Order: sequence, then C-alpha cells, then structure tokens
Amino acid sequence: MAKVTLRALFKRFGEVTAVNDLHLDVPEGSFVTLLGPSGCGKSTTLNCIAGLEQPTSGLVLFDEQIVNDLSPRDRDIAMVFQDYALYPHMTVFGNLAFGLKQRRLSDREIRSRVGRAADVLAISELLDRRPTEISGGQRQRVALGRAIVRDPVVFLMDEPLSNLDAALRVRTRTEIKRLQRELGVTTVYVTHDQEEAMVLSDKIAVMRAGVLQQYSTPEDTYSQPVNAYVAGFIGSPAMNFVEGQLASQDGHLLIRSGELAVPLPDSVGAVPGADRVRLGVRPEHVRVGPAVEAAGATAHVLLAEPVGPVTYLDLVVGGIMVKASVDPRLRARIGQTVGVSFEHVYLFDPVTGSRLDCSHAG
Ligand SMILES: Nc1ncnc2c1ncn2[C@@H]1O[C@H](COP(=O)(O)OP(=O)(O)OP(=O)(O)O)[C@@H](O)[C@H]1O
Ligand SMILES: [Mg+2]
Repeated sequence: MAKVTLRALFKRFGEVTAVNDLHLDVPEGSFVTLLGPSGCGKSTTLNCIAGLEQPTSGLVLFDEQIVNDLSPRDRDIAMVFQDYALYPHMTVFGNLAFGLKQRRLSDREIRSRVGRAADVLAISELLDRRPTEISGGQRQRVALGRAIVRDPVVFLMDEPLSNLDAALRVRTRTEIKRLQRELGVTTVYVTHDQEEAMVLSDKIAVMRAGVLQQYSTPEDTYSQPVNAYVAGFIGSPAMNFVEGQLASQDGHLLIRSGELAVPLPDSVGAVPGADRVRLGVRPEHVRVGPAVEAAGATAHVLLAEPVGPVTYLDLVVGGIMVKASVDPRLRARIGQTVGVSFEHVYLFDPVTGSRLDCSHAG
C-alpha cells in the first residue's frame, strides 16, 4: 500500500493540454475516483500514475518516492482497463497465473495467490474454463483477479465496468467496493459515471478540460459543489438552472426570470453585489403540491415519468422548464396545474459559474 501524490502535473499533447496543473493527494488505502466527461484528462492522469505516459512536467510520488523515472513494471501497480482482453487460449487459472509466472514465482505461491483471489471473487468453480465459456461479468471478475493476484501497492482502474450491462455493472461495482475495503489497497478509479463515483469513492476528483474542479467526499461533492459545472455533473436527473434576477418582496428573496417568479427558501441570505444569478435547484428539492396551497408559484405538468420509487415531472414554470422528482403518490397528471416551491437552492455567478452563496471550498 502506498499513498499517491500528484504535484503540479501537466501533460500536453501538441496543442492539447490534457492535464493542467493537477495537485492530488490519494491517502493510503483510500478509494479515489477521477470523474468527468469524455476528454477531460482522466485516462491521461491515470496513465501518468501508471508510468504509461511521461508527464510534461510535475511529479508523481508513491509515498515519499518520486516515481517519474520508474517504468510501469517497477511501480508495483496493477491496472484494470475497460478492454480487459483475457488470453482466449488459456483457462481462467492460466489467465490469473500468467503475470505471476512471468515474475517467476514458485508454483506453490502461484496456486496460493490464484486460489485466494478466486475465493474473494467467487470464481473458484471457473478456474478450468476458458474465457469464451464464462459470462461477461465473470470475465470482468477474472480481469480484476489478474490485478489482485499481483498484490500491488496501488490499483489503477480505467472504466472497468463500461462493457457490462446495467444490472451487472451495479453488482460488479458493489464487488469492487467490497474488495477494495477488504484488501485495503490504495485505488485510483476512472469513470464518467457520476453515480458510480458517488457509490464507490472515499473522495471524488471532478475534472474539466484537464483542470481539477473539486476534490471532496461524495457527500460534499453533492451538497457543496464549488461551481455550476460540478453541481450540474453530480446528481441524476441533473440540477435545474435558471438565470435570473434576485429581488426582494415582503421581506422575502425571490428569483425572477421573464414570467417566472419563485420565492427562495429563508435559508438563502442576500448575496452582496449579486443581483443577476444562475440559480440551481435539484429535482429532489422542487416541492410540488396542489396549486391552491402553493406558497411558491404555479406550474403546468408537461410530462410525468414514473421510475418506481419516485416520479420525474417536467414542469413549466413561468415559461421555464423545471424537472422535479416527486413522490409517486402525488399522482400528478399531464396537463395539470400544480404549485411549486424550491426547498433548497444554490446560487452561482452567471458568468464564471462560481458558487456565490457559500465560502466552502470543498
Ligand atoms: N496520445 C495522445 N495524443 C494526442 N492527444 C491525446 C492523446 N491522448 C489523449 N489525448 C487528448 O487529451 C485529452 C484527454 O484525453 P483522455 O484520454 O485523458 O480523456 P478521458 O477523460 O480519459 O476521456 P474518455 O472518458 O473519453 O476516456 C483529449 O483531448 C484527448 O484527445
Ligand atoms: Mg479515458
């Protein structure tokens, strides 16, 4: 086990700055996720940690040791990729044992390590089969097994679940989490899936165009986003944004945007110097009730999407579309007029996107 530290990491490919001045501390034994959309520099960062890419500048440290000049082989890492190609002509055992044989471990040691990994991953019954004779999820576990038998100081995983169907992805990610907790190996995990990041991580590093936006626990990333980008990236369905004017009416603050006028919760204080804002409200913080009782505004139900535990409503409030996540027992019907209020909101600078209503830096 080792802690991993990135100091002022830059990686340029010609004109493209894939990683831009990245500082990151991955504590020993922790699970850290690099999260962001396609092309934001996640894999490049991971490859710099692995030694598969040489940073343009900056340092990669394992514990206190600078590893920039160490080859991947000498870094004692194990990597799991999205394309985890197993050797088709080898059995599962052969696949698991391959790296260990190359390192000339004794047969006894190999058997013991493979046996232990197979146990942990519940693939002991499959050791004699070939990759074509097992399911996709089982293949994925074999790929994880190949990493585990190495007994590395750091696990690096690049979208290891993206080839699996939705149900299997959820099951395998639970397995990865259990496994990581059990083995206690420092893990850096790459995904563009915010839910995966939320479920798995001790800390999430949200990236955008090579620049780290926020590095915090899943809870803080969700509830204390530093800017509109992070706020919009975390949470599903995504946060609603309304650009408008803050105004004061009967001692209450409200947001106005065209026809829309919605009072804000009392918890929102006046923001000095900001009257024009980008307001963010998560679907789960949009309260919907009968129009008559509404202390907020009225809205029309454009679409209702029941997904089981909640129903998503597309609402038109003063000409603006707002998504709400509501109790299915509300039985809102398309075309109905309802009352809406915002239970909790975030205020962002309409130009820079920075958070205005708090000084929290994540
Ligand atoms: N070998 C390369 N040569 C040139 N440009 C590259 C190279 N590798 C990556 N890039 C560029 O660097 C940027 C970051 O790429 P990277 O693969 O790190 O993104 P990513 O976040 O992993 O995206 P994805 O989710 O699509 O895998 C992109 O603009 C990409 O086009
Ligand atoms: Mg990638």
